[in-house]
Amino acid sequence: MNKIILALDVCGFKEAEKLVKETSPYVDVYKVGPILFLQSGKEIIKMIKDNGKEVFLDLKFHDIPATVKRSVESANELGVFSLTVHSVGGEEMLKAAASVKNRPKIWAVTVLTSQITVPEEVIKRARLAKACETDGVIASPLEAALIKKECGKEFSVIAPGIRLAEAVDDQKRVATPEVAIQEGADFIVVGRPILKAASPYEVVKSIYESIIKVKVVL
Ligand code: C5P
Repeated sequence: MNKIILALDVCGFKEAEKLVKETSPYVDVYKVGPILFLQSGKEIIKMIKDNGKEVFLDLKFHDIPATVKRSVESANELGVFSLTVHSVGGEEMLKAAASVKNRPKIWAVTVLTSQITVPEEVIKRARLAKACETDGVIASPLEAALIKKECGKEFSVIAPGIRLAEAVDDQKRVATPEVAIQEGADFIVVGRPILKAASPYEVVKSIYESIIKVKVVL
């Protein structure tokens, strides 16, 4: 599976559909977050799947265990490939999410890439997420290698905070696509560098071409 996840942080169904069609040669998984889900919910998921692609539902569940478990069950019925829960929800919540049968992949958010933190905090949350039988974590590309070392190669690391050059915005713990893959990220999540480009197709193509050459040394 292609390692680029495109974050569909746009406001309308039409815009999202245009992006999916334009970038589909280089993207297999599309991330749907609250911006789009609150607006077009099920239609967006259906549109992505009708285009032969997978959905990463990034709603970062963080609630009491019973509510999170039922939320994972509902997401399962939508047929999504993966979803996020927030590690801050704690052991009982993470275990409740992971206990759902035949469920999508569950990726736990460690610390948002817009926040400054120390690697020890990210590792602590990654270890907890692994102990609770989730499938991986969302973390900065700069922490990917350490997480793989501590939690094993099979435990997935999904890295947002991807920047093509010096960009000034809300993301703090950033790296280029090549560095993120080199550090061991299984997927990179890219939003604005593609969404704001004059040609999303050209940017996604160049990211794809730059990461297929990367050798991962873990
Ligand atoms: O536009 P940008 O490339 O910064 O988009 C990154 C995406 O990844 C956003 O949709 C954001 O919500 C999401 N994300 C993140 N940090 C996390 C988890 C998700 O930036 N820890």
